[in-house]
Amino acid sequence: MTADLKHTATCADDEGQSLRGFLANLTEDQLLRYTIKRQDFLLSAITEELEKQERFPVVQLTDPDTGAKTVANIFADRDILKACIHNIVEVEQKAEEFGSLEMAADPPCQQNILREAQVDLSALPIFKHFADDAGAYITAGIVIAKDPQSGRCNFSFHRMQIKGKNKIGISLHSRGDLWRYMAASEARGKDLEIAVVIGAHPAYYIVGASKVPLHQDDYSWAGAYMDAVPKTVKSICAGIPVPAFAEYVLEGRILADTHEDEGPFGEYTGYSTSRSTRNVFMVDAITHRNEPIWQDLVPGFAWEHLLLSQFTKEIILLNKLQREIPEVKALSMPKNGCHFHAYLSMSPRAEGQARQAMLLLFGLDPYLKLIVTVDEDVDVFNEEEVWWAAATRMQADRDVFIVPRVLCNRLDPSSEEGMSAKMGIDATKPAGWEAQRVRLPEDVRKQALELIKSS
Ligand SMILES: Cc1cc2nc3c(=O)[nH]c(=O)nc-3n(C[C@H](O)[C@H](O)[C@H](O)COP(=O)(O)O)c2cc1C
Repeated sequence: MTADLKHTATCADDEGQSLRGFLANLTEDQLLRYTIKRQDFLLSAITEELEKQERFPVVQLTDPDTGAKTVANIFADRDILKACIHNIVEVEQKAEEFGSLEMAADPPCQQNILREAQVDLSALPIFKHFADDAGAYITAGIVIAKDPQSGRCNFSFHRMQIKGKNKIGISLHSRGDLWRYMAASEARGKDLEIAVVIGAHPAYYIVGASKVPLHQDDYSWAGAYMDAVPKTVKSICAGIPVPAFAEYVLEGRILADTHEDEGPFGEYTGYSTSRSTRNVFMVDAITHRNEPIWQDLVPGFAWEHLLLSQFTKEIILLNKLQREIPEVKALSMPKNGCHFHAYLSMSPRAEGQARQAMLLLFGLDPYLKLIVTVDEDVDVFNEEEVWWAAATRMQADRDVFIVPRVLCNRLDPSSEEGMSAKMGIDATKPAGWEAQRVRLPEDVRKQALELIKSS
């Protein structure tokens, strides 16, 4: 699948930084098109069924009457994610080369401008995703805000419930940078100005899901991922830089000291939840391209919802671990662990080093509850192998440790007071290990492959 995706080479071109430029480079197999009216639940049901068939294409719905397009499931395939960005492994260093932005003349994202009384969120193609959702939600909005202290831009994802013509309920529950900016604005008695981008090149979304170090501007990571200087324009209300080729931009303010119920909403844990910071976002302006494409991200326990952040976490956390412990080889976060489980492989140079690596990883990612560490000969992306190693190399009384009551993700319904227990399983070979894994001679394996291919 990866081989046919060409758009990484074209980010320097105009449409190379856009959603439609990305879509234009997908093959027939990678883009599944249906001509059907948008309706509640449909995209969630289509992608759930595709996932059962182990198919992960981008899905596009085209309205038979208006021709308006909606796309989703862009982040459900690891190969597409890998192919659409550059400099994945060394993104933090590479970002240093992308300290500036290009200001685009005639930016497409401002071809249409709706201000104040013209703003009507009910006119946008927003729908419900799950039966118990409190309402229609924007799920693929990248919130761009400026750090009130440094002026650097931050991108993040936040579920957004439509509550009226110009009112949105927004949750900052992951308590990341936007939550910090909000707290700083409230301390000064001010609303926080934001711009929400819907429909953009995948690189912008991948940055939105990444924990960018505080000293770096998130645009510098977008530049590194696209290997091109981001083309932007200032948002019309607050002058926040926004990608010039975005499909839609919603501009407005998160109100200081204002809270209203938000949710329930189908979260990545697979549960419907009302746990929310219950913030309120007032929309002052909407700008969009001609014939804008609406982008959705299928929420709930869907591959797209989970893989987008797991993919970047795997790479960034592995990088950090290897800087301290070079014996660490690979890291994977299985889908069924919904951000709470990780599999690590390493070639420990001493007894106890697997535990050291697991303690470091627990420290780096507070969402994790379970880590299984295996030897280098085990493929961490193959769960069957991971649990085979646990079955045959681990003894629970010797190789398991539990650290009680550590900070965790509150969306875990089994957590208590924002804390959970952390369990590490050392499934690496113990000292004095003698058992030999069954093997086949490589030439006979190749011969068998040829035989099967020709039959
Ligand atoms: C698909 C997706 C949806 C998310 N939804 C929310 C959300 O509703 N509320 C929230 O606070 N964080 C949410 N997050 C997490 C943050 O956006 C994410 O942690 C982001 O990287 C923030 O990091 P920052 O602290 O660098 O801004 C979501 C992440 C993804 C990938």
